Amino acid sequence: MTLDALLIEGCQRLSIAGSPSPRLDAEVLLTHCLGRDRAWLYTWGDQACDTWTRARFAALVAARADGQPIAYLTGEREFWGLPLTTSRHTLIPRPDTETLVEAALQRAPYAPGALLDMGTGTGAIALAFASERPGWEVVGVDVRHEAVELAMANARRLGITNATFLCSHWFTALASAPVRARFDLIVANPPYVADNDPHLEQGDVRFEPRSALVAAGQGLADLHYLISSAHAFLHPHGCLLLEHGCAQASAVRQSFISGGYKNVESLSDLAGQERVTLGWSMTSP
Ligand SMILES: C[S@@+](CC[C@H](N)C(=O)[O-])C[C@H]1O[C@@H](n2cnc3c(N)ncnc32)[C@H](O)[C@@H]1O
Repeated sequence: MTLDALLIEGCQRLSIAGSPSPRLDAEVLLTHCLGRDRAWLYTWGDQACDTWTRARFAALVAARADGQPIAYLTGEREFWGLPLTTSRHTLIPRPDTETLVEAALQRAPYAPGALLDMGTGTGAIALAFASERPGWEVVGVDVRHEAVELAMANARRLGITNATFLCSHWFTALASAPVRARFDLIVANPPYVADNDPHLEQGDVRFEPRSALVAAGQGLADLHYLISSAHAFLHPHGCLLLEHGCAQASAVRQSFISGGYKNVESLSDLAGQERVTLGWSMTSP
C-alpha cells in the first residue's frame, strides 16, 4: 500500500467519524508517524508504506475518530510560531491566546522589565513573550508540577533562557521563591469556564483537565481572585492583563474597576470578541 492510499483510507475513516478537518488531521497524523513534514508527504506519497507505520497510523486515526485532540496524539502544538510539547496535564495552547501575548508585547518597552505568567501550562504565553523580549525576565507559575516541568522542558528545547518556572497556587509561593517581588506586567489565561457549560462536553475540551478549564462562580472566581491579589505583585504603574470568555468582559471590567485599577479596557480578538481585559496599577511602591 502507498502512503497516498493510506492517507485516503485514514481521511475516509475520520470523515465518517465526523472530524471537521479529516484530510488535515490524517496528514498531520501520518507525517507524525513518518517523522516528516507535509511537503515531504506531497512529494513522496507514491512510496510504499511499511507495516509499522501502517499499524501506528491506524491506532492514531482510531484515537482521533474517538475525538482525542490531535495535539495530545502528536504531543505537539505550535503557538506564536514556537513548537511546544503538550501533555494531558494542561491545556492545549489556543490561537486565541495570541491576542493576550500581542497585548502584553505592545505594553512592554524594549528596555528590560519583568513579566509574570499565572497558570502557565505548557509555558505558551511566557515563552512567546520571552522569545520576543530577550532582555526581560519572565516567570511562569502553575499549580500542577507536571505543567511546570513541561514548561521548563519547552524552554530548554527552544533554547529560551530568560524564562523560569515554579510551582505555586497563584501567588502563594512567590513570596518565598528566589524570584523578584514585583513585576511590570502580570498576565494570565486562567480557568474561566463555568462547571455547567455545555461546551465542556464538546470537541478537544472533553479530554483536557478540568483543573485547566473550570472555575467556580460561573467561571469568574479565579479571574476575580487574580484581579484582587495582583496589586501586591505589580510595580506602581504595572499592568495586569487577563484572558476571559467573550461573555465575561463586562463582569471582568467591573472587577478591575472595583479593584482600583486605572485605564481599564477590553481588547477584541481577530473574531471581534472581547477576550482580554487589562488595567493599570497605581499603587505606591
Ligand atoms: C486555561 S489554562 C492556560 C494554560 C496556558 N497559560 C495557556 O494559555 O495555554 C489554565 C492553567 O492554570 C493552571 N491553574 C489552575 N489553577 C491554578 C492555581 N490555583 N494556581 C496556579 N495555576 C493554576 C492550570 O493548571 C492550567 O495550566
